[in-house]
Amino acid sequence: MTDLMEKVVSLCKRRGFVFPGSEIYGGIGGIYDLGPLGVELSNNIKACWWKKNVRERDNIVGLDSAILLSSQVWQTSGHVEGFTDPLVECKNCHQRFRQDILPKSKNCPSCGGNNWTAPRMFNLMFKTHVGSVEDKTSETYLRPETAQGIFVNFSNVVDTMRVKLPFGIAQIGKGFRNEITTGNFLFRVREFEMMELEYFTYPAQAEHDFEYWQKERLNWFVSLGITKKSLRFREHQDTERAHYASRSVDIEYNWPFMGWGELEGIANRTDFDLKAHSKASGKELSYFDEEKQKKITPYVIEPSVGVGRAMLAFLIDAYCEDGKRVILKLHPNLAPYQVAIFPLLANKPELINLARSIYDDLKKDFSVAWDDRGNIGKRYYSQDEIGTPWCVTVDFQSLEDQTVTIRDRDTTKQERVKIKDLGNQLQKKFSQSETTKLTD
Ligand code: GAP
Repeated sequence: MTDLMEKVVSLCKRRGFVFPGSEIYGGIGGIYDLGPLGVELSNNIKACWWKKNVRERDNIVGLDSAILLSSQVWQTSGHVEGFTDPLVECKNCHQRFRQDILPKSKNCPSCGGNNWTAPRMFNLMFKTHVGSVEDKTSETYLRPETAQGIFVNFSNVVDTMRVKLPFGIAQIGKGFRNEITTGNFLFRVREFEMMELEYFTYPAQAEHDFEYWQKERLNWFVSLGITKKSLRFREHQDTERAHYASRSVDIEYNWPFMGWGELEGIANRTDFDLKAHSKASGKELSYFDEEKQKKITPYVIEPSVGVGRAMLAFLIDAYCEDGKRVILKLHPNLAPYQVAIFPLLANKPELINLARSIYDDLKKDFSVAWDDRGNIGKRYYSQDEIGTPWCVTVDFQSLEDQTVTIRDRDTTKQERVKIKDLGNQLQKKFSQSETTKLTD
């Protein structure tokens, strides 16, 4: 692991962002729990995605389908047959690896040997049973993508929402993949949340919409603080595309542990899924085009990203050091706490009371932290490390003139504002932070 990655992982554990799953029992491979600050960050990422892709658009609606679907869904979608990775076993140490991500030398990452079994295709879906009888008929899978829940609800949404092509259905939810090789912290895990959009469009417009979504999605990361030069597009070769895609482009991030690698995938799934489910279920999944007076099966453009993988990119990109001071320069819309309130001294009831009343007031509109321990400098550093953009200090002058200081995380500059204007001032700072320059 690189130095930067080690620091981010350690910060995540130390400050309550991410804990290893089932830690008291020695952990469970590729599974992590979100701590109190991690769940705030993750919720903020999801809220920003939902706002940008559902709330701010006229033609995209949301959905929350079940994790367990009929096993026929996975037969039809091609996942039972094709959602596999090539697995090889080291004949020396008997560790198993994904053949396609072995190091260039092809030496075993565990023992250094170079004596492998022939590859066999390993299905990544977790099998389970529905009901009390464990036989073939009750078998199904934990979903490896949320997209199928959208396809099987296609007609329900068209019939109830009167959507007009092109339109999208968005979903955020858990996905499960029994990855052969996990690693690099949140990068490749076995249980993770996904943010997926299935954008249904006219086949002739699909290529145009593909280009549109590429730019939109890259801009979303930049608008939330990721450095532009740490992101790029990479077109998939014919040999690496998923079985359902006619075109795929990854938004790649320059990860400290591996260099360029997938952050988000954008695929043209054509009419593969809707046609396959229509045929297998006998229920026609098509759209009646009023203008052309005919039924069509739309094409699907799908931007899809893992919440945890996005979180890791946001954390890595935000991590800075200034001497001994660690600063997480998270975008204010993502930071677990947006404001922290400090009474200058913890043993002065007048200060505590005034600070408490400000805290209670701001809590209605912001995510607010309270800290009255130790000296102010240490409190600032502690908030810098978890990304809190603004700290408000209530001091003796506050008791006299009803003003407080706001200290900025990135510049460390302080300004004095009237308590009655504090909410508006903070709101203004938020609006200013939303005007990041985007790509064309
Ligand atoms: N429905 C499309 C789909 O599932 P994918 O490229 O396999 O496409 C989409 O996954 C995104 O989900 C990836 O770009 C990545 O952000 C995230 N992802 C995939 N596998 C993951 C894993 N094992 N751990 C964490 N995130 C993962």
